[in-house]
Amino acid sequence: MGESYEALFETKQAKGRLAYKLFACSMLVGICSIWLYRATHAPGWGEEGRWAWMGIFAAELWFGFYWIITQSVRWNPIYRFTHPEKLSQRDEAELPNVDIFVCTADPIAEPPILVISTVLSTMAYNYSPEKLSVYLSDDAGSILTFYALWEASHFAKHWLPFCKKYNVEPRSPAAYFSKLCNPRDACIPTEWSSMKNLYEEMADRIDSIVMLGKIPEELRANKGFSEWSSGMTSRNHPPIVQILIDGRDQCSIDNDGNALPTLVYMAREKRPQHHHNFKAGSMNALIRASSEISDSPITLNLDCDMYSNNSESVRHALCFFLDEDKGQDIGFVQYPQIFDNVTKNDLYGYSFNVFTEVEFPGFDNWGGPPYIGTGCFHRREILCGKKYSKDYKEDWKRGIDRKTAKSACILEERAKSLITCTYEHNTQWGQEIGLKYDCPVEDVITGLSIQCRGWKSVYISPSRKAFLGVAPTTLAQSLVQFKRWSEGNFQIFLSKYCPFILGRGKIKLGLQMAYCVYGLWAPNSLPTLYYLVIPSLCLLKGISLFPKITSPWFMSFAYVTIGKHVYGLVESLQCGDTLAGWWNFQRMWILRRTTSFLYGITSTILKLLRISEMGFAITAKVSDGDASKRYEQDVLEFGSSSSMFVIIGAVAMLNLFCLVGGLQRLVVDGGIMGLEPLFIQILLCGLVVAIHLPIYEALFIRKDKGSFPFSVTFLSFGFAMLVSLLTMV
Ligand SMILES: *[C@@H]1O[C@H](CO)[C@@H](O)[C@H](O)[C@H]1NC(C)=O
Ligand SMILES: *[C@@H]1O[C@H](CO)[C@@H](O)[C@H](O)[C@H]1NC(C)=O
Repeated sequence: MGESYEALFETKQAKGRLAYKLFACSMLVGICSIWLYRATHAPGWGEEGRWAWMGIFAAELWFGFYWIITQSVRWNPIYRFTHPEKLSQRDEAELPNVDIFVCTADPIAEPPILVISTVLSTMAYNYSPEKLSVYLSDDAGSILTFYALWEASHFAKHWLPFCKKYNVEPRSPAAYFSKLCNPRDACIPTEWSSMKNLYEEMADRIDSIVMLGKIPEELRANKGFSEWSSGMTSRNHPPIVQILIDGRDQCSIDNDGNALPTLVYMAREKRPQHHHNFKAGSMNALIRASSEISDSPITLNLDCDMYSNNSESVRHALCFFLDEDKGQDIGFVQYPQIFDNVTKNDLYGYSFNVFTEVEFPGFDNWGGPPYIGTGCFHRREILCGKKYSKDYKEDWKRGIDRKTAKSACILEERAKSLITCTYEHNTQWGQEIGLKYDCPVEDVITGLSIQCRGWKSVYISPSRKAFLGVAPTTLAQSLVQFKRWSEGNFQIFLSKYCPFILGRGKIKLGLQMAYCVYGLWAPNSLPTLYYLVIPSLCLLKGISLFPKITSPWFMSFAYVTIGKHVYGLVESLQCGDTLAGWWNFQRMWILRRTTSFLYGITSTILKLLRISEMGFAITAKVSDGDASKRYEQDVLEFGSSSSMFVIIGAVAMLNLFCLVGGLQRLVVDGGIMGLEPLFIQILLCGLVVAIHLPIYEALFIRKDKGSFPFSVTFLSFGFAMLVSLLTMV
C-alpha cells in the first residue's frame, strides 16, 4: 500500500473478554438454576403464597431474559482511535465542507445566551472557516433568539481570532469565561480582560432584552428584524431564513482579516392547523434549507445546550469518512452525550459512564452505535434516504464550487420556499427521507433505518470530550426525560420498526439485541415494582418466597445477585464513577424503573389503544438558585407535587412498614429460628430501605422547598398504610 493509503483510524478490542465470557456463562447457569428452583418448588394449589410465587417466577424469567439481552453490549466492546495528524498531511483544499445544525425550541427553557455560546463554539472549530456553515433552527421563531444570534455574528469577529491566536479551549465563551477567572493559555492579560468584557457586555444586553421580552424599536432598522411583525407567535408565523454571515462574501471577515463561517438563522413556517413533528420536523427543514445554501456533504447535528469542548472534533470525525479503506461504509459518526454539570457523586445518574465506555463500544462491535440525536456527524446523502452500495463514491467537492452565483437574498427566498408547512405534503419526507416522524425518539429509529439500509456507523469517545451538555438538576426533570426515552424506545420495539423485524437479515443479531437493551427499558418497570413490593408484603405476612440459607438453592440466588452487583460495581468504577456515585445510580435505577418506565409503558399502551396522544416535553435547562445549591450538595430535589413522587414515597414507606412489621413478627413468634426461611426477604427489604434513605429524609426530616410537598407525603403514607393493613388482615 502506498503512502496515501495510511489508515486514518484504528480499532482496538476491549481487554479481558475471555474472562468476561466465562463469567457470563456462569451467570447464565445461575439464572437457569433459579428458574429451575422456581419451577420445582412452587406451593401447590390452595397453598398460601402460590400467586405471589407465580408472580415472582414471572419477574425472574423477565430479569433473566433481559440480562441475556444486555449481554449483547458487553460481549465484545471495541474502541476507535483516530489519527487527525495524518489527515493534516492531506491538502486542506481537498477536505469537504461541513454543515452544522443547532436546534433550539424555546427561548425560556433554553436561554439564548446558552444557545449562541454553542453556536460560537462550533464556528470556532479548527477547520477552514470557508468550509463551515452553521445553522440555527429556532422552533419558537423567537425574535429574542434571532437578536442573540445577530449579536453573536458581531461578537464572532472578535472571538474567532482570539480563539485561534491563543488556541483557547473550550471555545464556548460562556464555558470558557465561567471556568476561568484568570487569563491562561499565554494570553496577554489586557487582551483577555477586554475579550471578557466584550462578552459580558453582550451577555448583559441579551439577558436584559430577553427579560424585557421584546427588542428596542431602533434595532428593527437592521436587516432581518423586519421579518417579525406584530401578531406573530411561536406557533403561527411564516418561514424565516436569514443569512447573518455569508461566508462567500469577501466582506465577511473577522478582525484579523480571515474568512468567517457562514451563519444562518432559520425558523420553519408554523401554522396551528399543521402538525410540526417536533425536532424531526425541524431537522428535516434544516436539511432542505441548507441544501440550498451550502449543501455540504457532511452535516453535524447538535442540541443547543451541547457546546463543543474540543475544537478538533470535525477533524476526528472526518478521519472516519475519509479513510480510504473503511470510510466508504460509514454512514454516521456518533459522539457520546456527556454532561458538563454532573456533580461528583452523580446524584441523578447522568454521568452515563457505563453507556459511553461499555455499552456504545459494545454496539460498535455489531455494526455501530445508534444515532442519539445530538453530537452526530452524518453524510448528507444518507439522511436523504441513500442506500448503501459498494460502488458509491461520495462527491467530497459538493458545495465547494457554488461560489457567488446567487446573492444571499435569492438563497434566502429559495430556502424559505423549502420550509413551508405544506412543502412536505405528498412527499416521502418523514418516512423514507430525512428523520422519521411519529415517534418521540425519532433519532434512534432514523439511525436504525440507516443501518438497515446497509451503512455502518462508528462511535468515538476521545478522552477530551467533544461535546458537553447540561444535565437536568431536579429529580422531576430527570424522571420525565427518562420517561420520554423509555416510551419512545418501547414504541419502536412494538412497531414495524422493531429491531428484530426491521433488522432481520439486514443487521447482525447482536445489534438487534443491543437496540432492545433500551427498547425494553419500559417493561422492566413491572417486574421491578413487583420485586420491590411483593416480597416485602409477604415478609409482613410471614410467607417465604426464597430458599433457606442452608438450602443448596440459596447458592444460586446468592451467586447471581452478588455476581451481578459486584460486576456492576467494578464496571462502574472502571469507567470512572465513584463508589457513592454507583450507590446513587442504583437508587436512580430503581426510581426510574418504578416511575419513568412505568409511565412509559402505560402511556405506550394507552397510545396503542388510541386513548391518548403524543406530546413532547422539553427539558428545562435552568433552575432557581436554592435548587442549584441543593443540587451541588447532592440533595435530592422533589418540591413539585408530581404523581411520580407519590409512587416513590409509597414504595419507600411500604418497605419501611414491612421491615418493621416483619422484624417484630420474628421477635414475637419465631425468635431467631423463624428468621431462616425469611432471611432473603428481610435482606431485600432492608436493602430497599437503605437505598431509599434520602427519600425518608425528604419525607420526614427536611424542611426546605425541595422536600416532599405535604400532599405527596400524605398520599404516599396513606397508600402504604392501606396496603399494609389489607395484607395483615
Ligand atoms: C473540556 O475541555 C477542557 C480543556 O479545554 C478539558 O480540560 C476538560 O477535561 C474537557 N472536559 C471533558 C469532560 O473532557
Ligand atoms: C448545572 O446547571 C445548572 C443550570 O444551568 C446550574 O444552575 C448549576 O449551577 C450547574 N451546576 C454545576 C455543578 O455545574
